[in-house]
Amino acid sequence: MEIIRVKDAQAGGQKAFELIAAAMDQGAKVLGLATGSTPITLYREMIASDRDFSTMTSVNLDEYVGLDGTNPQSYRYFMNENLFNQKPFKESFVPNGKASDLAAECARYDEVIANHPIDVQILGIGRNGHIGFNEPGTPFASKTHEVQLTASTIEANKRFFDSVEDVPTKAVSMGIASIMSSKNIILMAYGKDKAEAILGTVSGPVTEDVPASVLQNHPHVTIIVDDAAASLLK
Ligand code: GLP
Repeated sequence: MEIIRVKDAQAGGQKAFELIAAAMDQGAKVLGLATGSTPITLYREMIASDRDFSTMTSVNLDEYVGLDGTNPQSYRYFMNENLFNQKPFKESFVPNGKASDLAAECARYDEVIANHPIDVQILGIGRNGHIGFNEPGTPFASKTHEVQLTASTIEANKRFFDSVEDVPTKAVSMGIASIMSSKNIILMAYGKDKAEAILGTVSGPVTEDVPASVLQNHPHVTIIVDDAAASLLK
């Protein structure tokens, strides 16, 4: 794991963009993308750059169950607003949270990932160490699956909704094995709320109780953190 300390989220976004641009120069064609507030500074850098993404494919980590892409709280909508409307990709995949058969949707998404091997996967991290929507206890061997969100994740994400009752309780998420199959992984974390999760990710035991700790087993992981998120690291 390489740990890069930055002064703030803006510098983190610039650093992540440099890494993506370098990977693209070496032929990367598929980006694994994430939602949440963390990757927004990266997406701003991508939008501000003169890079063309129209030959690139993106595969997103997750989507809420029950929301379709026209719902402003959906992750599809988030991606359109924060990246794709300004920087079109050749194709962009996000799980379909409105699928009537979610098991079939999960299988379809695994096919998408198999057919578009991810060159660079972008990750944020939940306060409990979740990646994508893989909550503590998710098997490391998991592929795309339906997730029951934990109370702490619902609480953390309610800021985007009118009330906590409006936060969906389920999601479809790429699994941990799918994330680990990416060639390169860049995880970003900013702020003291993420310090404990980063400690567990970087120097805790590799355990399903802290999903991101699995990244210690991946050969090409870069962790970009500000001082607050890194504050518990030795
Ligand atoms: C959600 C997303 C994750 C994200 C996490 C942290 O649960 N599914 O992919 O990493 O939130 O979000 P934020 O970056 O807003 O702190």
